[in-house]
Amino acid sequence: MFYWSAGLCHERPMAEKIKGNPVKIKALKGFKDILPEDTPLWQRIEATARGVFHRFGFQEIKVPILEKTGLFARSIGETTDIVEKEMYTFTDRNGDSLTLRPEGTASVLRAFIEHSLHNKQPVQRLYTIGPMFRHERPQKGRLRQFHQMSVEVLGADQPLVDAELMAMAWMVLDELGLTASLEINSLGCRQCRPAFNNAMQDFLRACRDLCPDCRRRREKNPLRVLDCKNAACREQYTNAPSIQDHLCDGCREHFAATEEALAGLGIPYTVNPLMVRGLDYYSRTTFELLTNALGAQSAVGAGGRYDGLIKQLGGQDLPGIGFALGMERLALLMAEQGGSKPPAPPDGLFIAALGDRARSRAFAWAHTLRRHGVRTMMDHAGRSLKSQMKQAGRLCGHALIVGDDELEKGMAVLRDLAAGEQNDITLPDGDGLAAWAQELGRTITR
Ligand code: HAM
Repeated sequence: MFYWSAGLCHERPMAEKIKGNPVKIKALKGFKDILPEDTPLWQRIEATARGVFHRFGFQEIKVPILEKTGLFARSIGETTDIVEKEMYTFTDRNGDSLTLRPEGTASVLRAFIEHSLHNKQPVQRLYTIGPMFRHERPQKGRLRQFHQMSVEVLGADQPLVDAELMAMAWMVLDELGLTASLEINSLGCRQCRPAFNNAMQDFLRACRDLCPDCRRRREKNPLRVLDCKNAACREQYTNAPSIQDHLCDGCREHFAATEEALAGLGIPYTVNPLMVRGLDYYSRTTFELLTNALGAQSAVGAGGRYDGLIKQLGGQDLPGIGFALGMERLALLMAEQGGSKPPAPPDGLFIAALGDRARSRAFAWAHTLRRHGVRTMMDHAGRSLKSQMKQAGRLCGHALIVGDDELEKGMAVLRDLAAGEQNDITLPDGDGLAAWAQELGRTITR
């Protein structure tokens, strides 16, 4: 138990400890530990995505997880669920309103503008990987801290870029052994959106019993109602005007060229004119990668074009487009779709040392082996041979068994734990330690 006094956090000392054990502190609701047994899958997801991003010419950018609240309010939009209901916002000790980032795009654009990255390279291809925070109701595939691999192309407005990005997201899924369906839409631009907004407002005025959010958004941001989760509202919106019928010539041509390029790459897609996305910054192309394997949380990735956003955040008038893949959802999907490989058998060497002298020698050998690239483990607690061999079986592919006798003879047993075979090997003397470590490394990886 902790309590606050004079701005400091103290452990509540007496009460609980006197009564018995201190109360256990658990992780916050919607915040999840990723345990060691799961990290190989996460590493594989990340390595696969990084490999694909690299082949498409993307570079990594790392941005802070905490930003001024205004950055998100201005970019994501004041009337979105994210800004209205889901941000982790607090006032810091200087009185500034700060927010844990609910998504990556706004922060990457802030950095792009702040460091004038456009001057270094007219088209920037950037990605960032890390945690995002949204105070949503947790459920399968929906957390309050979740991880995104978020990708942005800044400074290019060609429809080929739209298709290329969708093809890249598709390639990540494909290389992870996953399938999803791609839905695309166009949300129009500053030119054609006003006519659609008017048509939408007329339509909404004729709808009955809209929820309070939709009634409010009808006046401020009518497109946003299509994002409503309320079943009664959604049912009425199946007959809503289609943005596709209101696109200006430029947006229609852009969308047609994007479709043509996608088809040319053999990427299957469907057009969903009701897709709006949960963030206000989009213009023209939007897309979602959907699956029905994860219950209500069907989007494993999503994104779109945001041509006015860089300017809106104080930068030059440059176009942009991006997407983000949700890593928790990818990991779940890999478990569902069987894409997760069986864990690799453990590699490396466990030195099972018996007695103080052997343990002390083994400690130095382990250091040298590690310096020569060999994954090496040992027990420091003086456990029995049986217990050490159990650990070795769980953790490593080979075990080197050394006690006083072995030290005396200068020979020890090297056991291949998977094959159950063993051989005698010579132990190193002082001068030959490095050569011995290299040779042993070669032997156990052969
Ligand atoms: P988003 O659709 O809000 O877009 O999120 C992208 C992906 O993040 C979703 O498709 C989902 O896989 C994952 N995700 C979102 N919220 C959660 C959650 N609460 N729990 C688990 N996973 C979640 C964006 O964030 C945009 N910034 C994408 C983008 C980049 N657009 C342009 N560039």
